[in-house]
Parts: sequence; C-alpha cells; structure tokens
Amino acid sequence: MVNNFAYAMPVKIEFGAGVSKKLFEITKNAGLMRGILICDKMFEANGTAAQIAKNTPSICGVYCEITPNPLLCEVEAAARLLREKRVDYVAALGGGSSLDLAKFACSLALSDRPAEEYFYKRAVFANRHIPLFAMPTTAGTGSEVTPVSVCNDQTTGIKAPLSHPNFYPHTALIDPELTLSVPSFVTATTGLDAMSHALEAIWSVNHQPICDALAAEALSSIFRHLEQAYDDGGNLEARTGMSYGALLAGLAFGQTKTAAVHACSYPFSSRFHLSHGEACAFTLDLFVRINAEAGRIDALSKKLGFENAEAMADRIFRLKKKFGLKTTLADIGSPDVRSLAEECVAHPLFQNNPVKLTVEELAAYFKAFL
Ligand SMILES: NC(=O)c1ccc[n+]([C@@H]2O[C@H](COP(=O)([O-])OP(=O)(O)OC[C@H]3O[C@@H](n4cnc5c(N)ncnc54)[C@H](O)[C@@H]3O)[C@@H](O)[C@H]2O)c1
Ligand SMILES: [Fe+2]
Repeated sequence: MVNNFAYAMPVKIEFGAGVSKKLFEITKNAGLMRGILICDKMFEANGTAAQIAKNTPSICGVYCEITPNPLLCEVEAAARLLREKRVDYVAALGGGSSLDLAKFACSLALSDRPAEEYFYKRAVFANRHIPLFAMPTTAGTGSEVTPVSVCNDQTTGIKAPLSHPNFYPHTALIDPELTLSVPSFVTATTGLDAMSHALEAIWSVNHQPICDALAAEALSSIFRHLEQAYDDGGNLEARTGMSYGALLAGLAFGQTKTAAVHACSYPFSSRFHLSHGEACAFTLDLFVRINAEAGRIDALSKKLGFENAEAMADRIFRLKKKFGLKTTLADIGSPDVRSLAEECVAHPLFQNNPVKLTVEELAAYFKAFL
C-alpha cells in the first residue's frame, strides 16, 4: 500500500544540450532586465563567462571569487556587488560551490545582517530574494533544484548546509555541454555524489513514492553512464545521462534529505581534506551493505540488474578503485576510528538512516570494511 505523501518543487527546469544559450530569452520573458553572472573562476579564465555576457546583454557584471567549498566572506562580497549593481536577477554558472554561493548571496543581498547570523541559524531570512538562474557545470550536487546551500565559515572552519525556501533557483538551465570539460577525477567524484543522493533518498527514513521513482531512474542512468563519462569526457551522450541522473537525484533528495553517507562525509571531508564527492564515496558501498534489507536496497539492486545489494556495493567499490579514489582508512592516514565514528553518529543527518547504529557499531564497521 502507498502511504500518504507530498511533493513540492518550485524550480522551472530547462534540460538539454545548448539550453544555457537561452538565458537571455528566459530572463527577458520573466521581465528581468539587469543581472550579474556569478561563476567559477575557470569560466572567466577560459572565456565562457564573456561569451555568456555577450549573449545576454542584460548582464552588467561578473563575480567569480569563489573557492571550492565557498566561504561566508565570499557570499558577503557577492551580496555587496548585487546591492551595488541593483540587479533584478542573478545567473550562476559552475559546480555546486558556485551555485551554493549564489543561492545564499541572492537572499543576503536583501538583508542588512551578516552571513554568519543565518549560517548559525541565529537569524532566519525574510521571504524575499533575488531570482536565481542556475546553470550547473558538473553532474553531481543537484544544487540547481534543491533549497540547500553548503558553505564554510572561514573563521571557525565549520562547513554546514543551510536550507531555506528562498534558495530554490527560479529556473535551472541544465546543459550537458557545459560538463564536457569536467576533468576525469571531478567527473568521478561528482558522479558518485549524485549516486549517493539517489541511494540516500531511497533508504532515508523520509523516503516516499515519487522520490523513490526519481531516485531509481537516477541510479539507472548513473550506473549506465558514469564509467563512460569518466573514460571519454567528450561523449555528449554519457554526459547527458549523468546530468539527467544528477538532476533526478537532486529532485529526490531535496525532499527526503540525505542520511548516513552524507552525515559521515562532513567529518571525512573536513578532517582528511577530501572533496564532497570523494568523502561521500568513501562510505557509500559500506552503507549499501549495511542498509541492504532495511533500506530496500536489495530489491532495488535487482531492478537495476544486479544479483543483489552486495553485488551493487562491489560494483561501486570497483568504480572507486578504477577512479583512483581513497578507499581505506590507511589511505587517509589511519585516523582514530572511535572519535571519527562519534562525529559521524552525532551529525543530524545520521538520524535519517534506516539502520540505527551506535558509535561502537559504526567504529566496528569502519575497522572491518575500510
Ligand atoms: N546544494 C546542494 O544541494 C549540495 C549537494 C551536494 C553537495 N553540495 C556542495 O557542493 C560543493 C561541491 O560542488 P561540485 O562537486 O559540483 O564541485 P565544485 O563546484 O567545487 O567544482 C569542483 C571543481 O571542478 C571544476 N569545474 C566545475 N565545472 C567544470 C567544468 N565544466 N569544466 C572544468 N572544470 C570544472 C571547478 O573549477 C572546481 O575546481 C561542495 O561544497 C558540496 O558540499 C551542495
Ligand atoms: Fe552530496
């Protein structure tokens, strides 16, 4: 029997090769006349930002001071520019880092309080923001359709997700051609991030039928195309399959939230300086094994053409090896497993995992499998 559920997602989606060229038409049709492009520095360096500005005459400036893992001071700087330029829209071009910075800046620009107050939840945004047009250049985070922004406090080193309905972009222009230049290692880590979103949406305690369906289709596309996109970055069909998979995974986990893999990713990325995707991948196959029955992953794996959940976990492990990712505790410097497990279990997202584990149980899994 299907239980009661709700699904709401306000982002308009334009998907397909070349759709980023429609930015001017789409913003103009929305009555927007003056925008800023927020983009990854490499797109300024390689001329893509200039090309977009040329095709979009309403763009009156570019902001590109963004580090991977965007900082609150960068959000502040972008918000200042939005205020100065008096823009009525923002276009964001880049991976999750650029999109997340832009989401936060679009609300902060209309506030007179500092970013820290919102980041540490001492303040809540008023219900107004500058509309954002998100153009992802990686196939991973799904940030283009989620209300989440992950930023870092440069003073404390704390990295945390902030979620607010303001953060939903107005429109996502998902153009797989923008991902053709992603280097193979980033293709691997962002692709496994997307795979983690889909699996976590399915095994989350908040899972529901629409998200289950979206996530299963996401997984089918990601398993079919990830290795191909890694081997041959110029393959538009593989890139399109990955952009599609990452989008559907974003539509799923945006409602259900993620679970243990993402809970663990925060300590793993901050302690061992792994990118978000590599940190998720580090425990992904382990949690496929742990959540196999409770998370309905055994049944899902069969639908995806695997013999069982173990076989799916083995496939993920082989992909990680092929991609040259870190897979063992020794690879990350043989850390103190007990304190690591403590931090993972304490993360709020850990509560969304279908299998409840104590610190001792998680530490024992880490020692046995990693
Ligand atoms: N908002 C969300 O819902 C959500 C979900 C998951 C992760 N995140 C966050 O997103 C961030 C990671 O985003 P990401 O994985 O997309 O990586 P990213 O934006 O940090 O980019 C990674 C690297 O790839 C490069 N790059 C991006 N696109 C490229 C392209 N087309 N060609 C060549 N190089 C390119 C960037 O310059 C950068 O060096 C993390 O901070 C993570 O915590 C957010
Ligand atoms: Fe993620």
